[in-house]
Amino acid sequence: MDKIVVLDFGSQYSHLICRRIREANVYCELLPYNTPAKVIKEMNPKGIIFSGGPASVYAKGAPKPDRQIFGMDRPILGICYGHQVLVDNFGGKVKRAASREYGRAGLKIDDNSDLFKDLGGNINCWMSHGDKADQVPDGFEVIAHTENSETAAIGNRGKKMYGIQFHPEVVHTERGVQILKNFAQQISGAKPEWDMQSFVETTIEDVRRQVGKDRVLAAVSGGIDSTTVAALLNRAIGKQLSCVFINHGLLRQDEEKEVVQLFKKHLGINLIYVNAEKRFLGRLKGVTDPEKKRKIIGDQFAKEFVAVAKKHGPFKWLAQGTLYPDVIESGVSKGPAAVIKTHHNVGGLPKWLKLKIIEPLRYLYKDEVRKVAKLLDVPDELLKRHPFPGPGLAVRIIGAITPEKTSIAKRASRIVEDELKSAGYYDKVWQAYAAVGDDRAVGVLGDERVYGHVVMVRVIESIDAMTADWTRLPYEVIERISNRITNEVEGATWVTYAVSSKPPATIEPQ
Ligand code: XMP
Repeated sequence: MDKIVVLDFGSQYSHLICRRIREANVYCELLPYNTPAKVIKEMNPKGIIFSGGPASVYAKGAPKPDRQIFGMDRPILGICYGHQVLVDNFGGKVKRAASREYGRAGLKIDDNSDLFKDLGGNINCWMSHGDKADQVPDGFEVIAHTENSETAAIGNRGKKMYGIQFHPEVVHTERGVQILKNFAQQISGAKPEWDMQSFVETTIEDVRRQVGKDRVLAAVSGGIDSTTVAALLNRAIGKQLSCVFINHGLLRQDEEKEVVQLFKKHLGINLIYVNAEKRFLGRLKGVTDPEKKRKIIGDQFAKEFVAVAKKHGPFKWLAQGTLYPDVIESGVSKGPAAVIKTHHNVGGLPKWLKLKIIEPLRYLYKDEVRKVAKLLDVPDELLKRHPFPGPGLAVRIIGAITPEKTSIAKRASRIVEDELKSAGYYDKVWQAYAAVGDDRAVGVLGDERVYGHVVMVRVIESIDAMTADWTRLPYEVIERISNRITNEVEGATWVTYAVSSKPPATIEPQ
């Protein structure tokens, strides 16, 4: 398949470039900036993109690519720092700009014959730089400029090399995807062969070839990644796949029933359901430290998993829902590291199980996984479901886990979810739940004084869970949630709404 490679010079947007190229239906991979030219040659990309990065090209030790790349006869597009690398390499001059440019700028297109084809005369673009190309190298021409950057975009048509100071990959650059598409498809000649239907077909073939007649075991949580892995493998190898779903007793209300139903009835997948509630909750009894809870859950999960592997085995393969961002770390600091994403709970599997790892989603971004899931008939409802932590309610029950607190957390969270759905907020927020601790407050039920639990409702918005903000829900929605919890959930007398953002708080209370 035709591909483009992006060399990562450390910009926070490097992954985004990769995703945008894929949106233009061209397969794209992210590599560290110092990947040897020999390795790139073997990959045979149609074109190469240099990402942005925080360094100055003239600084000592500034990251530079293998110079042989420039002689590979492949089109190159430099973005921001990548633009400056190109200028520097071909003898132009990069200098600290008199006025730094951050944010929106008007780009005046001087030449719209190739990179800016179909873009018209002017667009808004997104700048973020302190250096600029002061002198354009021989053979390059200015193809667009802004008020502060006379050399905002340059090109050498003969060499098919282009540099742009702005970021086409961010949404603030109008028609940025068209620019990347022009580079990938027109200038580099990459065929638009990357789409999820063909991914599904080729992956099914690959999996069949890889596992042959062997049996595969997959741990599933009912979340989108593990469900998609299971659905994909089921299409590929059917009965050779066994999925195991372990109920640790700290799931959302009725979740165990829903997952079993989804796998057995809807997807027709061979599912081993293990009700391990008693064993998990027994070990967690009286434990208050959140990290201890996580450790116990992880350890017990491994034990349950091994028991299943022994009882239903032998299995040769363990399937995991590793995604592309887990596989590729930033090229600048770490180089490409194949990090195996241990399913949060399958971390400590013993070596003697000798399971080989199969990761059919390792080339996909999350949004691509969603598309694959849709193609595999995974129901919409699951695709829209909020992420749920592996240790489940253990991190939402502050202090010791008791049956009363578990029941309050389950039932109150269901109310939060239901009310957000009916108010049209569920799909707009990242996560929403009710947590409970040991704080109590007086309530009056009928004529009776009740010393019940304080329930904390948390509804947050986030893009990647790294930062988060609390959702400004209308008072009426908060009121309905509160009323329903105090009326319907036994043991709950007060409701509070968490208004701390992350940082300094975290998404989960524990
Ligand atoms: P925090 O609380 O760190 O959460 O702001 C960030 C995101 O990670 C989820 N989370 C977990 N997921 N095992 C998981 O699989 C865990 O132990 C765990 N702790 C937090 C949390 O739900 C949020 O989406």
